Amino acid sequence: LIVGCGGSSDNAGGDGDAPVIAFVQTGADNDWRNAHTVSVKEAAADKGYDLRFAEGQSKQENQIKAFSSFVNQGVDAIILAPIVETGWDNVLEKAKKRNIPVVILDRKVNTDDESLYVTYIGADTYTEGKKAGKWLAEKMGGQAKVVELQGNPGASPTINRFNGFREAIADQSGIEIIASQSGEFRRSKGKEVMEAFLKKYGDEIDAVYAHNDDMAIGAIQAIEDAGMKPAEDIVIVSVDGVRAAFEAMVDGKLNCTVECNPLQGPLAMEAVEKILSGQADQLDKVTLIEDSVFEMEQAADVIESRKY
Ligand code: AHR
Repeated sequence: LIVGCGGSSDNAGGDGDAPVIAFVQTGADNDWRNAHTVSVKEAAADKGYDLRFAEGQSKQENQIKAFSSFVNQGVDAIILAPIVETGWDNVLEKAKKRNIPVVILDRKVNTDDESLYVTYIGADTYTEGKKAGKWLAEKMGGQAKVVELQGNPGASPTINRFNGFREAIADQSGIEIIASQSGEFRRSKGKEVMEAFLKKYGDEIDAVYAHNDDMAIGAIQAIEDAGMKPAEDIVIVSVDGVRAAFEAMVDGKLNCTVECNPLQGPLAMEAVEKILSGQADQLDKVTLIEDSVFEMEQAADVIESRKY
């Protein structure tokens, strides 16, 4: 175990000499999240790290408990995917006091003290929202009544995808968001909220913007149950680019997905490796992962090459 790097070698109780790395995940509520978890676990195994895993079942209080417990165990580093942006200062301070370095992965934390974590690695979720808005405005020729399915409240991708989309349509007076509600990044909740939107607005709805693919797939089910054709009667754009979204595009039920790559494990573990070898100063404070946009027309050609 390397010392002098913020690692705490004394009491984690790891297997042999392997560094003990903790990963505090948000939950297991959709395909993207499960791919993200697998990526982190595999990347830790590739580096030979002893990974301790906890997931918060979509609740910040559970994540905070798990995080504190890893601090008490004196692990060598903690990777945190925070369910919401705020409310982390106390536990991050605890980790800092114990000299346990923290890597923030996927979602951002909002803190005035940036020294509480070493580095942040994740997708550019604001740009994802902008790309979705730009794509939809073009597709609809600048005229559409849109309903929005948001992610869980307070999460950085929810905030950014909400704002990024609005920036993209700011000069499009014909694009009107007629309803916007959280579907919690879940398929079942996306379906439920879309059913309520359809009940209230019916044929008025021209398009759906979903903050993730799972909610879009829930919305597709609701649209079909209402006797309408998804992607034809109602245009649908979402974010993530999971396999199920590509399948829906191949089936002609989803128009577009803006990629958000969950395969972040290798980048996280490279950061951990640098930190543990005393090279934390070589890391950028923020690393944003580049993403692409995929339309229905390309789906059949690229689906086999998709890795998640
Ligand atoms: O933080 C990334 C987002 O979180 C993904 O878009 C979503 O599917 C997940 O729950």
